[in-house]
Amino acid sequence: MKFFLDTANLDQIREAQSLGVIDGVTTNPSLMAKEGIKGEASILKHYIDICNIVDGDVSAEVISTDYEGMIREGEKLAALHPQIVVKIPVIKDGIKAIKYLSSKGIRTNCTLVFTAGQALLAAKAGATYVSPFVGRLDDISHDGMELIGQIVDMFNYYEMGTQVLAASIRSTLHIIKCIEMGADVATCPLEPILGLLKHPLTDSGLKKFLEDYHKVNG
Ligand code: G3P
Repeated sequence: MKFFLDTANLDQIREAQSLGVIDGVTTNPSLMAKEGIKGEASILKHYIDICNIVDGDVSAEVISTDYEGMIREGEKLAALHPQIVVKIPVIKDGIKAIKYLSSKGIRTNCTLVFTAGQALLAAKAGATYVSPFVGRLDDISHDGMELIGQIVDMFNYYEMGTQVLAASIRSTLHIIKCIEMGADVATCPLEPILGLLKHPLTDSGLKKFLEDYHKVNG
């Protein structure tokens, strides 16, 4: 399973990249705003900065909600850097835009997916990734992880090439569940990824190894 970092924070992206286990980055307008990135020129530059730090795909989201606007923005974003994947919401014009952009060889990430039906339409339109939002479903007492399993099964059954990018992943347990469900990618902040390292037996085992070494070697 691939890991994308779900942030627009350059320090966090640098730290994750230095770990050597990050396969890309996802952003959205809220994450960009959180970093105080505003104005078209700064936003576009920020995407390029992210691409220059990580090796893999970087999702950059359109702001338009109409077909023409999404196409215009999508082509502009894709021309910024070969690593850019254009993120498009799963609305009617978005599906049309995904179809058009994929016919032009531009990769897309269909976002704000909350049902298997939405994922099916995105995949039929040729989306490179679909992003079901696990945490936001959990927030309203729906099992977000069940949706991941449903979409993975559907894509496997119908042999669809679209990758399942589990988004709104907020905990280490979410990551483990994504592995069990067979998600292609999980995108989350750095903290839940670092949580995978935690185990008391690792800590106590390491402590004992070092104590034994120092008993003999001083
Ligand atoms: O990738 C989508 C993600 O950023 C949403 O996460 O935590 O805002 O639901 P969250």
